[in-house]
Amino acid sequence: MFYMPSRLYTGIDCLKKNAKALEGLGKKALLVTGKSSALKNGSQKDVVEVLESLNKTFEVFNQIEENPSIETVMKARDFGLLEGCDFVIGIGGGSPMDAAKAIALMMKHKEAGWEYLYDSKAASDTLPIVCIPTTCGTGSEATAVSVLTRTDLLTKKSSVHKLFPTMSFIDGKYLKSAPKSILNNTAMDALAHMYEGVLHSKATDYTWLCAKTGLELWKKNKDFLLGKREGEDADYQRLMDASTMAGMTIAQTGTTIPHSLSYPVTIRLGIPHGKAVSYFQAAYLKEAKKEDRDRLLLASGFTDPDQMHEFFLTLCQPEKISEEVLEIAVSEVKANEKKLAAVPFAVDESVIRRIAGFMN
Ligand SMILES: [Fe+2]
Repeated sequence: MFYMPSRLYTGIDCLKKNAKALEGLGKKALLVTGKSSALKNGSQKDVVEVLESLNKTFEVFNQIEENPSIETVMKARDFGLLEGCDFVIGIGGGSPMDAAKAIALMMKHKEAGWEYLYDSKAASDTLPIVCIPTTCGTGSEATAVSVLTRTDLLTKKSSVHKLFPTMSFIDGKYLKSAPKSILNNTAMDALAHMYEGVLHSKATDYTWLCAKTGLELWKKNKDFLLGKREGEDADYQRLMDASTMAGMTIAQTGTTIPHSLSYPVTIRLGIPHGKAVSYFQAAYLKEAKKEDRDRLLLASGFTDPDQMHEFFLTLCQPEKISEEVLEIAVSEVKANEKKLAAVPFAVDESVIRRIAGFMN
């Protein structure tokens, strides 16, 4: 099955050009953002102008932190209900968009406690959700995932509900003011989604369609990412579209071992997600079937996994990960049967260790 029910509008100024799309969503929007990036990159201003042109009112909840917690989601839900909001607009990277999805679910089920997010028997209907990405990695604008931090368990745990946005607006111009490190790390995350989404037991020709097109867009930006030339509107738009197509890919499949290995790296060492997942991509490619490896490398413009890894080292200048953290990562992956089942080739401990960078 290929299922991606979100309406996608893409291109520079796509929100203003398609303002009418928001007409039937509700009367009062809850804007869900981080502290300041939505103000700096102009996305919030565009949203406000469009809402005002449609005679809609809004309130802003700008307290979404990195890796948003259940507590923040519930606080935003209460605020949104108190203000009488009837649809939700998430603006930013993965954190505000993922939080917006959970908030829209909890606002719809206003009597429920936070446990509802993890109740697989409960209904998944939400208030209308609009997503506006301002980074180029998460792909949350085209996925059903809402990753939240469980402070009670000291870990991140996705809601069990499938929460696709009602519609998303994918405008590359919001990337222009992003710090270079965020641009680089999130671009590498998008690449990881396309590699892992294809090297996945659920991959089909339809997911390849998304990944191949996304990779071909992505590869046109390598010189620009490396700082060899100035970025133009088309570059930023391609990075954003590639990220959305990567999201469409993993919305069907999911991610595999490199993403799983990266979680303890991020949690224990504070290494940003896109950088953390990239440590393991070249080794994952090397383990894959030659035919799959070759088509992925060709589409993304690399001759072999080592050349891709060199690109990552130059772009992100990653710090060394201690063996202790890598051992923890390996043991977590070993115990994760669902992730192991997602790998389309035979995996044993020595394979996991090689992907983690051990020489066995
Ligand atoms: Fe990712």
